[in-house]
Amino acid sequence: MTDKTQILKFVEDFVREAVQKHDSGHGWSHIERVVRLALHINECEGKGDSYIIELGALLHDIGDSKFTSHDGPAEIRRILSSQGVDPGIIDEVVSINESISFSKGKHDALKSDELQIVQDADRLDAMGAIGIARAFNYGGFAGNEIYDPREGYANPPNLAAARSHASSTVNHFYEKLLHLKDLMNTDTGRKLAGERHDFMVKYLEQFYREWNS
Ligand code: ADP
Ligand code: NI
Repeated sequence: MTDKTQILKFVEDFVREAVQKHDSGHGWSHIERVVRLALHINECEGKGDSYIIELGALLHDIGDSKFTSHDGPAEIRRILSSQGVDPGIIDEVVSINESISFSKGKHDALKSDELQIVQDADRLDAMGAIGIARAFNYGGFAGNEIYDPREGYANPPNLAAARSHASSTVNHFYEKLLHLKDLMNTDTGRKLAGERHDFMVKYLEQFYREWNS
């Protein structure tokens, strides 16, 4: 095995263990999908360093405050230094972890190619059929309502409809999921996002049809 393969294997084992307490939408299968999607986007775009992308995708959810009080960047530095990873690469991977999320992401900050790609992959996994499954799974985990008709959403989906005080999972579509297609960084991400977005819109239309029938 090369050094890089050994390090990736070590990091993979660390992450598998670390995400065990996350809900299933944020667990190991999410990490695997993000790694795969990110490497695929990179192959199509041909602009990032695949080693940084793979490490960044593996470690992107470490320290997620929804599940842990651990300091993600400090953990990542500890793990990667213990494997003798180059300090420049560690900085890149830490910056992916710090800047990736919808909430934490600094929208106008300059993003590295690797961050752009891992962020697109993470956002794509929050969209489409899998995104819908993850949203309702997280909503159940957090004890939220599926839908609260008093929140009053327009059909077809109206992006301005998010209510800041609302906590149903359907509200989460308006708050976040339906915005993601316009936040893609790469052409490949935009292409993949279109189909997933349209599926979510169809899903909501059917949801309201059934709810109101
Ligand atoms: P980010 O780290 O990019 O802000 P999150 O970790 O908040 O993303 O979201 C990850 C997954 O959990 C996504 O699939 C997202 O839709 C889902 N999720 C997060 N918050 C909620 C919520 N309030 N209701 C339903 N799903 C949620
Ligand atoms: Ni993620």
